[in-house]
Amino acid sequence: MIAELKKMNINYSSANLFDVVNTRYNENIEDENYYTASDIKDWYSEWDFKDFNPNIYSHGFHQYPAKFIPQLARKILRVFTNENSVVLDNFSGSGTTLIECLLLNRKKAIGIELNPFACFMAKVKVTPIDPVLLKNKFYEIENMYFRSDNNFENQKFHNIEFWFKKDVITHLSKLKSIITDIENENIKNFFLLCLSEVIRRVSLTNHGGFKLHRDKNKINDSFNPNVFDEYNKVCNRNINLMIKFYSNVKLNKTNIKIIYGDSRIRQNIDEESVDFILTSPPYGDSRTTVAYGQFSRLSWQWLNNDNNIYSLDGNLLGGKNNINLDDETLDYSPMLKQQLEQIKNNCNKRAKDVLSFYIDLNKTLINAYYYLKRDKYFVLVTGNRTVKNVFLRTDLIISELAGKIGFNVEKILYRNIINKRMPSKNSPTNEKGVLCDTMLKENIIFLRKK
Ligand SMILES: C[S@@+](CC[C@H](N)C(=O)[O-])C[C@H]1O[C@@H](n2cnc3c(N)ncnc32)[C@H](O)[C@@H]1O
Repeated sequence: MIAELKKMNINYSSANLFDVVNTRYNENIEDENYYTASDIKDWYSEWDFKDFNPNIYSHGFHQYPAKFIPQLARKILRVFTNENSVVLDNFSGSGTTLIECLLLNRKKAIGIELNPFACFMAKVKVTPIDPVLLKNKFYEIENMYFRSDNNFENQKFHNIEFWFKKDVITHLSKLKSIITDIENENIKNFFLLCLSEVIRRVSLTNHGGFKLHRDKNKINDSFNPNVFDEYNKVCNRNINLMIKFYSNVKLNKTNIKIIYGDSRIRQNIDEESVDFILTSPPYGDSRTTVAYGQFSRLSWQWLNNDNNIYSLDGNLLGGKNNINLDDETLDYSPMLKQQLEQIKNNCNKRAKDVLSFYIDLNKTLINAYYYLKRDKYFVLVTGNRTVKNVFLRTDLIISELAGKIGFNVEKILYRNIINKRMPSKNSPTNEKGVLCDTMLKENIIFLRKK
């Protein structure tokens, strides 16, 4: 890989980041959710985390596509930050980096995210609440639910009966109306997020992927979920996770700011004010990779009655492909130029999809450079994917784009994706039935601002 970068004229530093890790790693051996006695010996090579549970603490409250593995985020944060650090995740999703900053008691953690449902989820997941209060409130919800005299209106939104059986809509609406009456905002949001997990389980959707599809097998009478039983299970699970989370963070002082906004646009973060950036951008546009908007749509319509979620996927990175195929971004990455030529020969439209994604990604790299202090690190976890039989080297394209902006490429690591929830197959040609393995490995790119 070093030879590849050298050939491409990318400034690759030979710094051994891992000497730093080694020293810090042994300093304070604590939580067995992150480190075991055996992995301390060979932590240099441990990036797959196949024997670790990712659903620890509030990380396990709710599903989200392509979430960070907390152990990976923790390992990187332990190396590059300390208690005085200001940390940014400019694609913060469900909030893994922010939660880890809180658990590690970092000074400040900032997230930028364009999916309003993900922002809501992250907010709940970084808000510790005394579990005793949650248990008591759960009993109140249960009592209210089984009292026959409460008034509530059935939830309405476009196509609701396509996605939920009538009986399920009634039970969910009743639960939602009880939860919405909770006065304390944080407690209310905690129980709304639990409801969102149930919404996925009791809907007629097929849970196999992240795109919205109705599961034909669920339309018949045999699919008859008990909404309150499911709610009970999720609340119990999440309150138990909160017990451990709360006891770990209740004295911590991390200032957490979640910006609901677009990473391509300069946000209200001062120039050179951030000590470290850790992020995982989407791997491609939402049409052909993970559709974050589709994943979030039903939950957000229930929780917020917000139909804008329909247009979300088109607004994420690479969502609009009305670009020119000779955009100047191509001048900054010969690798991108060469690979795009190959796709263009096959299909102009797919070439536009691909290029629009990298144009957008480049804008976010430029903003990241602005926020970051000099000499500090920016770590991106990304994946290479195949489009029209071209294996796109996102690792090298990012290296070239970042090099032009003023970053040094310090290291690229490759890890196996073992327990990240994302589609492992896609259609490289967009032809039905033609599949290839994709994104079974991830790249961890370590950049440093010069
Ligand atoms: C790979 S996911 C990040 C997951 C996150 N690391 C976690 O652990 O939950 C990428 C995220 O980027 C968000 N995103 C895509 N385009 C964006 C943009 N232009 N600005 C901000 N966020 C964006 C998506 O909504 C998605 O949540």
